[in-house]
Amino acid sequence: MIIERQEDVTEAVVAAMAQADNPRLREIMDALARHAHAFAREVRLTEAEWELGVSFLNRIGQATNDRHNEGVLFSDAIGFSTLVCLMNNGNSGASEAAAALLGPFWRMHSPPTENGNSIVRSPTPGPQLFATCHVVDPRGVPIPDVEVDVWQSSPAGLYENQDDAQADMNLRGKFVTVADGRFAFRSVKPGPYPVPVDGPVGDLLRAQKRHPYRPAHIHFLCFKRGYKTLVTQVFVDEDQYLESDVVFGVTRALVGNYARGEGVPPWSDHGGEWFRLDHTFVMEPGDAQLPQPPIK
Ligand code: BEZ
Ligand code: FE
Repeated sequence: MIIERQEDVTEAVVAAMAQADNPRLREIMDALARHAHAFAREVRLTEAEWELGVSFLNRIGQATNDRHNEGVLFSDAIGFSTLVCLMNNGNSGASEAAAALLGPFWRMHSPPTENGNSIVRSPTPGPQLFATCHVVDPRGVPIPDVEVDVWQSSPAGLYENQDDAQADMNLRGKFVTVADGRFAFRSVKPGPYPVPVDGPVGDLLRAQKRHPYRPAHIHFLCFKRGYKTLVTQVFVDEDQYLESDVVFGVTRALVGNYARGEGVPPWSDHGGEWFRLDHTFVMEPGDAQLPQPPIK
């Protein structure tokens, strides 16, 4: 169609895309084009602003590599990842979800680790943590043989892939639940940390006068055939950033109970401060799909 007025463009684009065989692709691209055009009209986008936007998207791609995923970070920082997570978990958003965004730091093939063993694989100063967790179904029945990936930052606030001082796969491990749905591990208590701010997302946060911090947390990914894969995080209670997580990931259900230990720790004693975490994860029946790893 020959375009006569700006209004015609939207109609022409929607018509051109309507030939796709895949009905879901048709539905998504139709809505994306209409909303993107409506957005440009609403803010009266200038050519210079359009250029800036395209360059921002290009910079997201250029900043992404095997060890860093700026695209996921951008989606997280504008609340899009949390929105999609909440829409697809917790009874389609009707009740509080036990799930949380994946974030950019999950790696596949975490080292299989015996229950009760440590995920500290190179010297990592910080308070000791003893975690005992259970995985149950919505009726509270324990689920054995769930593969659980655990990953976290160091108390200094860095994931091993960001920090040459840490061994490969430090603070990462894969556990399997036993008959009573339990898995347990030793670690160090995570600290709050800033998301990477050396790329375009950092520029955006600075322009918006937003701090880059996430409250301290541990990530979990629970996988078993017959159950919807549970991707979640358990936040340290009383963290100063719980109310202002830069990626909007905190719901009340995800605030854990990291209790300060008294006396001798339950498993081994390296001396010093220690905490225990007891947490129960609920997996819903469904499809066991693994997410795409954001980094290698
Ligand atoms: C994380 O928790 O690992 C994370 C999530 C979103 C952005 C950056 C980091
Ligand atoms: Fe994290």
